Amino acid sequence: MRVGYQRRLQHDPFEYLEELRRRSSNGILRLPWGGRCVSDAALAHTLLRDPELNGDRSGFFGDLLPTRSAQVDVGHAVRDLLRAHVADYREVLSAEMARLPAVSQWPTTATDLVYRALADLLLHPDTPPQIRHFMDKAVHGGVVFQAPGTWQRARAEILRAKLIAAITEHVGYRRENHAGESRDVLDAVLGACPHNLADRTVAEVFLVMYRSIVAPVSSSLAWSVLLAFSHHTSDCPLPWPADWIVREALRHRPMVWMVGRTFPHPTEFGGIPFQAGEMLSVSPYLLHHDEQGWTDHDVFRPDRWAEPHQRGPYIPFGAGPFTCAGAAVAHVLMTEALIALTSDCRMTVTGGDMRAVMVEGAIPRPFTVHRTVRQVHETERR
Ligand code: HEM
Repeated sequence: MRVGYQRRLQHDPFEYLEELRRRSSNGILRLPWGGRCVSDAALAHTLLRDPELNGDRSGFFGDLLPTRSAQVDVGHAVRDLLRAHVADYREVLSAEMARLPAVSQWPTTATDLVYRALADLLLHPDTPPQIRHFMDKAVHGGVVFQAPGTWQRARAEILRAKLIAAITEHVGYRRENHAGESRDVLDAVLGACPHNLADRTVAEVFLVMYRSIVAPVSSSLAWSVLLAFSHHTSDCPLPWPADWIVREALRHRPMVWMVGRTFPHPTEFGGIPFQAGEMLSVSPYLLHHDEQGWTDHDVFRPDRWAEPHQRGPYIPFGAGPFTCAGAAVAHVLMTEALIALTSDCRMTVTGGDMRAVMVEGAIPRPFTVHRTVRQVHETERR
């Protein structure tokens, strides 16, 4: 990539995408770092949903799982596990609120909160402490979000290798001492993976799930807090339900900024010839800021979610046969966290910046949250 492009991408990735769209004439833009991206809503719809282009395995698990049905089984098993334990998640969140300092640094705090609330569901407390220790370290050790520098990345690789080795050994143990019901994400993965899959591969699938849960849920929670409290600055309680805020944050600042499909055979798409193996992406950000589809496309406006017919293309969780298996439960996890944070509390943000940083997706730049418990009057409670 030429240095000029890199700088602009780092400066404001979404603004840069907008600029590339303005320069494109056919709804498919060429990305300066290689590949192309669809900005036209109808083409994006076809690319993500056409059975011809979405017939094989999805790219989400790479080559870890041998068949599409194994991919689906793992996604569903983890989703079901999380769904069954939402009440536990809510309980830990509420305990975490009591520990949250009045002033906290975000998005790190979002990652801590979401991770702590999910830690026992990712790996049950009976798991050997050493493995849980590696998992704790992985959250901020460059395994969940890519570390910024070369040295930190090398350390993250070592940590990742230790975590994988420890989980691999533990997978062997769990296979021999099967407990019956799934108590955590590792059990869910183990139960859904083909029985002949190597212990190490199961450990890697677990790691894919661990990252794919913690990173987008915590980043989207951080965007929700930043956007909501940058737009609502009065002392009154938030004027929008948490559900609308989360939906609108996922629209305005989608954490997953590119969703890709690889052409299985030579194809002409949108008037452009593609070779087998070439990738074409769709940008949720561009579709969510489509002037034709959305009124006030550039404005954070949670109350648009009260107007059912005023919506354009909305794909924060992808679309078509490979749509995110955890979309509904992810939405619940974010909404619950936002409710826990804001109930009976006044929050303000300082230092916020709406430009994203690209680290495993579009995450907010650092900002500070000030949170104080509100005196709730009887009339407000009613
Ligand atoms: C805010 C949180 C989340 C966001 C924004 C998100 C987003 C996405 C996106 C964009 C995809 C690719 C879809 C496509 O290619 O069309 C995906 C795939 C996937 N996600 Fe999520 N995700 C989130 C949370 C979760 C959670 C909590 C789970 C736990 C079950 C999960 C499990 C999966 C799985 C298994 C896939 C692969 C689906 C397949 O190929 O069959 N995600 N996610």
